[in-house]
Amino acid sequence: MAFARLSVLVSLVLGAAQIANAALTKRVTCADGSVTANEACCVLFPIVKDMQATLFDGAECGEEAHSALRLTFHDAIGFSIHGGKGGGADGSILVFNATELQFHANGGIDDITAGQFPVFQRSGLTPGDFVHLAGAVGTANCPGAPRLQFMFGRPPPVAPAPDLTVPEPTDSVTAILARFADAGFTPPEVVALLSSHTIAAADVVDVTIPGTPFDSTVGTFDTQVFLEVLLKGRLFPGNGSQPGEVLSPLAGEMRLQSDFVISQDARTACLWQSMVNDQTRMTTQFKAAMAKLQVLGQDTSKMVDCSDVVPVPAPFAGPIKFPATFSQKDVQQACPQQRFPAISTVAGPAPTIAPVPGS
Ligand code: HEM
Repeated sequence: MAFARLSVLVSLVLGAAQIANAALTKRVTCADGSVTANEACCVLFPIVKDMQATLFDGAECGEEAHSALRLTFHDAIGFSIHGGKGGGADGSILVFNATELQFHANGGIDDITAGQFPVFQRSGLTPGDFVHLAGAVGTANCPGAPRLQFMFGRPPPVAPAPDLTVPEPTDSVTAILARFADAGFTPPEVVALLSSHTIAAADVVDVTIPGTPFDSTVGTFDTQVFLEVLLKGRLFPGNGSQPGEVLSPLAGEMRLQSDFVISQDARTACLWQSMVNDQTRMTTQFKAAMAKLQVLGQDTSKMVDCSDVVPVPAPFAGPIKFPATFSQKDVQQACPQQRFPAISTVAGPAPTIAPVPGS
C-alpha cells in the first residue's frame, strides 16, 4: 500500500518535471525564421532589425546606442515606491517629451528622442516597450555587455514624470542614494547601474566638447570606467571647470563629479573598487539592476519575457589596462580594506581620448 502510494507520487513528480522541461525547451519559429520561446515575441524581431538598421547605424555601439541606454534610465527613474511620482519605465519621456525634455537633468536627451520617434511610430509598440527594447538592443551592440532582459507588455504612459527625479552630476552622494532609494534601489544597485558610464560620453556638461567619453574604451562594456574614475585628476578636457565636472586624468576624457564622489564615499567606495577588473561581477550586477529598472512601476505578471529577441553581445576581449603612463601609483584608493587588483599598463605615451563620432 505504502509502496503503491510512493510510486504514484514518483510518477506525478516525474510527470511535472517533464512538463516543466517541455516549457523550458519550447521553441517557436516565427514567420521571418527567428526562433523564440514565446510566439508573442515574434512581432519584435522585425522591429529589432529596423532599430539596428536605422537607429544604431547597423548594430554599432555608438552615440545612439549609448543614448538609448541613458534614455531607459531617465524614463524609468521618474518613479517612487512611495507613489506620487511618474509611471516608471513607461516611455513617458518619449511621448511627453515636450514636458520631460524641459527638465535640466534631461539635457542632451532631445537628440535620441527625436531619432527614436519615427522608428517608434512605425513599430506599433507602446512607448515604454519601445524605449526599453531600444535600450536593450543598443547595449547589446557593445562588446562585453550582458544580454539585458526584455519584458514585453507595458501599457501606454498616462502622464509625464514630474521634474527633479533624475539625479544630477552636481548632487551629493547622500542626495543620489536617497533618490535611488526612493525609486527602490540599494547602494550596490546604484553602483551596478553606473556601469553604464563605461559606454558613455557627455554632450552638454561642457558644450564646447560634445561627445567627450567617461573612459578610454567608450565602445566597449568593460570595467575601465571604474578604474579611470579612481585615477588622480589632472586636467579639464574642455572649457575649464563646468558644474558637475571634476578633474580628469586624461586629455579628451570627462569625469563626472557624481561618479567621482561615489567612488570615494565610505558608503560606496568598496562597491566601486570591487568592480575594477571584475567583468563578471559588473555584468551580472548590471544585468540584474537593469532588469529591475526597466520594469519599474510595471505589472510584470501581465508581461511576457521576450529576452531572446535581444541580440547576443560580443564577448569582452579584455583584460582592462591602465592607460599608457598610468599605474597603481596614480590610483586614489578609497577602499583600503580591499586589495587593489594587479593591472598592466598600455605601452606608449599618455593618450588623448577621441570624442564619440556623431555627438
Ligand atoms: C548618479 C546617477 C547619474 C548621474 C548623475 C548621471 C549623469 C550623467 C551625465 C551628466 C551624463 C552626460 C550628459 C551629457 O552631457 O550629454 C550622462 C551620460 C550617460 N549616462 Fe548617466 N548618470 C547617472 C546614472 C546613469 C544610469 C543609472 C544610467 C543607465 C542605467 C546612465 C547612463 C548614461 C549613459 C549611457 C550616458 C551616455 C549617453 C551618451 O553618450 O550619449 N547614467 N550621465
